Formats: sequence, structure tokens, C-alpha cells
Amino acid sequence: MKVAAGEGIAAAVEALERGELVAVPTETVYGLAADATNPAAVGRIYLAKGRPRFNPLIVHVTSAAAAMRHVRFNADAEKLAEAFWPGPLTLVLPLRPDTGIADLVTAGLDTLAVRVPADPVAQALLAASARPLAAPSANRSGHVSPTTAAHVVDDLGDKVSVILAAGATPVGLESTIVGLAGDRPLLLRAGGLARSRIEAVLGRSLAAAAPAGDAPTAPGMLTSHYAPAAMVRLDATEVREGEGLLAFGPDLPVGAEKAVATVNLSPSGELAEAAANFFAGLRKLDRLVSAIAVMPIPDAGVGEAINDRLRRAAAPRS
Ligand code: TXA
Ligand code: MG
Repeated sequence: MKVAAGEGIAAAVEALERGELVAVPTETVYGLAADATNPAAVGRIYLAKGRPRFNPLIVHVTSAAAAMRHVRFNADAEKLAEAFWPGPLTLVLPLRPDTGIADLVTAGLDTLAVRVPADPVAQALLAASARPLAAPSANRSGHVSPTTAAHVVDDLGDKVSVILAAGATPVGLESTIVGLAGDRPLLLRAGGLARSRIEAVLGRSLAAAAPAGDAPTAPGMLTSHYAPAAMVRLDATEVREGEGLLAFGPDLPVGAEKAVATVNLSPSGELAEAAANFFAGLRKLDRLVSAIAVMPIPDAGVGEAINDRLRRAAAPRS
């Protein structure tokens, strides 16, 4: 059932209480939410997405105070929560024992990923349901993340009881994930909050997470992810026969006029605008072409997160 976000909150709360799934807009991407304290409900998230059970979920709460009931904060966590919550930042911290979070949420890890979303609909749902909500992005596992309610309908329409439909999500990329459970802060996933802003608050640099595959600290960083059906060719300086063009900025590459379809993420070359348009642009081209040429995108600011998603979209599929 797809409903306008304002009217749908009560129906969404009832669905969550029955252990069902609800799609909710956040400022980053749409999430597929379930009661994080109900193991059967959390199990339905994995089933609906086709998500491997070793890939843990982010828990959404109303405030830093609510987060502290589930995880142990340290000085870095306090600084980052103060600076960036509510907002597109997820913190991975040591899980407190016996807080009621279902084991399936953490996939058995002794840490928990928590975040306080800024979106008013997400906040209204959290407040009305009065429970922590586990919510991964509301797409099939490995597929492109959803930034509109229509994307959720396309991917998971038959699996959710209520889709709280608001507009397109403003940030457009998932939250940045910072690991604070070890000796030094780790960037577990680049995302909608730029690394430089986090490092400025911490007063030190974020270390890279260990490479995918052998890293229990970052189990979700699977190499092929965010994958459209089309082949993706990065750093394209020319457009080849039959390709669609994912463009950035005013200066188009050689042969741009023969592209089968073109999406310009930001004609003026602004990275925040490109991030907001990124997943929808990828989905649009994926419907129209079987090969996508992507122009180079600067790695500064949220460009780091865009390039991370692009590398995964272009990775060999397993
Ligand atoms: O913006 C977002 O973060 C969105 C919205 C809906 O909030 N959610 C999202 O969730 O992107 P998901 O499940 O698609 O990505 C969660 C990531 C995965 O890569 C997972 O491996 C990682 O968080 N993660 C979760 N718990 C973790 C933990 N305890 N330690 C390390 N990584 C963890
Ligand atoms: Mg995801």
C-alpha cells in the first residue's frame, strides 16, 4: 500500500506492531523498516531484499540519547553525534548487552550501527512507533538504492505493507558509516556526509576499512553492489556506439551527441546535486540502454561516495 507520508503514519505503526515491513523516506535514501526488537520482523527484511544474513542492518532511533540505550558511546561518538545528528551519519559502536535488539540485526557482531535520521517522516514514524527501527535501503540486495517511492514500488512493491511516500530524498546517497568500536576511527562506507567534515570534528583522519571479503568490520562492503543491469564504463572521455551517457558538468565528452540517452547529474558541476540525482539517473539509463559511459567525477566532498558507488556498479558481477 502506497500512501502519502502524513496520512500513513498510523497505518505504518500498526504494520510495524504486527511485525510487517514499512518503507520510509529518510534524507539519504528510502529505507525498508522493521521493528528492530522483533526477530521475525527483522528476518522479513532479509527475505524481502534477498540479503545475505551475514550483512548486518542499521538501527534508526530518534536521538543520541535513544542511541545510547543500545550502544556505548565514547568521546569521538559524542562529538560526531553532537555535530551531525540528526543527519546522514551512521556510527558503529559496541552493543550493550540485553537491550532487546534482535541478534539478526547485528548478524552476530558485538557492535551495532546506529543513526538518527533528519527526515521529518522518518522522525515521525520513529516517534509514533516508539521503538528502534532496523532499516536497510529499500531495494533488492545488490541493486541500485531507491531515492523515490516509485523506486521502492519497482523493487519491493509486493513485500511491504505500507510505503510512506514523500518526495525524492534530498541527499541521494546512503549515510556515511564511521566505525568507532576499535582503536581508531574507520571510514566503513563513504556516504552523504563528506569525510572532510567528519575529520574536521574529530581532529584526525579516518582510516580506511580493511578490504571487502575478509573484513568482519565492514561486511556490507561487497564489491559488486549498487549494480544496474547495464554494463558500466567509468571515466569515459568519449561515447561509444550504443552507449548511454551519465554526464557531469558543462563540458561533455567526444561523441556525446550520439549517446542513445543522456542524464546529466549536474550540468553546473555541483557534487551535492549530482549525489541527489545519482541513483535515479542510473535507474533511468538502465531502462533505456545496455551500456553506460560515465564521465569522470571529482573525488572531493561527496564525490568520494559517488565514485565508491560507481566503482561497485562497474565491478564484475558474481
Ligand atoms: O542512509 C542509510 O544508511 C540507509 C537509510 C535507509 O538509513 N540505510 C542503509 O542501510 O544504507 P544498508 O543496510 O543498505 O547498509 C548498511 C550498511 C551495510 O554495509 C552493513 O554491512 C553496514 O551498514 N553495517 C551494519 N551494521 C554494521 C556493523 N555492526 N559493523 C559494520 N558495518 C555494519
Ligand atoms: Mg543498501
